[in-house]
Amino acid sequence: MYPFGVDYYPEHWPPERWSQDAAMMQAAGMNVVRLAEFAWSRLEPQPDQYDFAWLDAAIEVLNRAGIQVILGTPTASPPPWVMEMHPDAFIVDASGVRRTYGCRREYCPTHAGYRERGRKVTQAMAHHYAEHPGVIGWQTDNEFGDYCYCELCRAAFHDWLMGRYGTLDELNAAWGTVFWSHVYTDWAQIPTPAGTGGVPNPALALDYHRFMSDTYVEFQREQVVILRAASTRQFITHNFMGFAYSKLDYYNLAADLDFVAWDNYPRLGFRMGAGVDPARLALGHDAMRGLKGKNFWLMEEQSGSGGWTTVGTTPRPGEIRLWTWQAIAHGADGMVYFRWRTARHGTEQYWHGVLDHDGRPRRRYREVQAIGHELAAAGERLLGAESYNEVALISDYNSRWAFQIQPNNSALAGPGAPADFVYPALVKHYYDALYAANVGVDVVSADADLSPYKLVIAPALYILPQDVATSLTEFVKTGGLLITTARSGVKDAANAVVDMPLPGLLRDVCGVEVDEYDSLPAGVTVPVTFEGLGAAQPSGPWCDVLEPTTAEVLARYDGEYYQGRAAITVNHYGKGRAIYVGTLAAPELERDIVNYALAEAGIAPVLETPDGVEAVLRCKDNDCLWFLLNHADEPRTVPLPFPALDLLNGRHLEDAVTIAPKDVLVLRQE
Ligand code: GLA
Ligand code: ZN
Repeated sequence: MYPFGVDYYPEHWPPERWSQDAAMMQAAGMNVVRLAEFAWSRLEPQPDQYDFAWLDAAIEVLNRAGIQVILGTPTASPPPWVMEMHPDAFIVDASGVRRTYGCRREYCPTHAGYRERGRKVTQAMAHHYAEHPGVIGWQTDNEFGDYCYCELCRAAFHDWLMGRYGTLDELNAAWGTVFWSHVYTDWAQIPTPAGTGGVPNPALALDYHRFMSDTYVEFQREQVVILRAASTRQFITHNFMGFAYSKLDYYNLAADLDFVAWDNYPRLGFRMGAGVDPARLALGHDAMRGLKGKNFWLMEEQSGSGGWTTVGTTPRPGEIRLWTWQAIAHGADGMVYFRWRTARHGTEQYWHGVLDHDGRPRRRYREVQAIGHELAAAGERLLGAESYNEVALISDYNSRWAFQIQPNNSALAGPGAPADFVYPALVKHYYDALYAANVGVDVVSADADLSPYKLVIAPALYILPQDVATSLTEFVKTGGLLITTARSGVKDAANAVVDMPLPGLLRDVCGVEVDEYDSLPAGVTVPVTFEGLGAAQPSGPWCDVLEPTTAEVLARYDGEYYQGRAAITVNHYGKGRAIYVGTLAAPELERDIVNYALAEAGIAPVLETPDGVEAVLRCKDNDCLWFLLNHADEPRTVPLPFPALDLLNGRHLEDAVTIAPKDVLVLRQE
């Protein structure tokens, strides 16, 4: 049975309504709900006085309708009494302002008292529900995040630093604190990066990201330990926020969980007509699958217009279904929509669900119901199916944070000017090129095993520890094709600039040295001419002027004082090759490079499709399924290289098929 359902808040509605909700869910083919992640005040109305009767009753109503339950630990939104008990548990933001009660996520993640309350309520829930046959799993907290800069966090940061560096001498050396006389003689002197009134030491700033990330990992682990001890039958997951969110090292947060779940809101744009970029959604799925190299769930998939104070664009007809099947194509093994019925009260009054405020079924309910029926028929065979991708794209939080601290090229671009250098945008450019070519990709961490891949793309691997450099070098030596770019190998793990020619530890494998670099002002580009590759493309906002040592030149600059100097090179190394793209360039240039590399590595698209139609291949044992997703607003015709069965409609297809706007086909070769 494919897990399919909604986020449900029975505590918001009279109990008399619950059975009607359950019946409507059942009629839509639903078999799972997530409950209780914001119900702390109902679960523990007074300190240590638990009330599970109402939740038991709601679960019973749902279970009777064939709907199983995932419970959220409620720590993302404490009741007032918790914060009254611990007034110093309110988070302090980067400007030094301490939050007050009244929204959510107001807690400091290091606060011992808050953590104890979190463990207690988790323990009580685990004790009550571990044996419950209708409760299949847990979600920890809700969308972990937000940094705190309070004095408790500062003290915890000191402990964390002691663990990392051991002695102050080590820390002072790694951070280079002699610069501006920051040499610390007592751990207690070390500040947080907030409130220094200027730009803090980049080494300190990077370590604060790592510390905050580790703190949430530890916060979550306390709950995971309790839940695991109570039950081995129930799974444990968390709802992540996709590729867009960068505050936590999601690889680490995922490590303690059974699988990753994430919250996908394709129409977060609050402007009517604002389009949806399907590649952005695909990257979200692939990045979340990559956290554990494993299929994942959608724990909140958009089913209505978003909105807290204003109302966003509602999903157009067919979009909920299209987004659902796109998620499945990329590895979703569960689909839970946010939310069942739109709330009448509170901050999220306008965050619409499957049902509107009045609880009546309309267009969005009918669309979800149609998906439910499709999944009841075809869903089982999709569970656990995988994509065996030949390309890996490295997405690295350490480099991402280091670029947040020092964007390298930025700041002056006004409205309409080309984007400054933004690391996730560069990753997305490379992703877009693969997406446009219908080539499947695994988004992986810098320390992932690269041996399954033919092509590895490592954009701007700015923080490059020795073990990552060794892994990339080994990958090339044993026959792989590597693409890396400007601003790779610039820094060591502590965020100090290396004392060797760039790209630092990658200069042997790339066979090139950066002679000098040029950071261009907003809007200025330098043309790059490919040797036998294609037309000239603009480059910028960053240009490395390259001096090949053993590499061949693929493209040269055609402007500026470095006219004629190498911009892109390729180097034979061992059995493989490494391409160095010396410019952080416009997407067109990155697309050309990717297409060149795909051809060189002999990587074929899943299927050739017209613009707007995404093709994804997933296989389970020998059962391979081709997903064709028409994101366009017009019908599109796709030539078929083989006769196929259309799984959702039971049609036999040959030669070509025309797909309606927003429609989806799942094909099996015949
Ligand atoms: C997030 C949260 C939900 C809800 C939605 C909509 O994804 O996890 O609780 O707030 O956003 O705002
Ligand atoms: Zn704090």
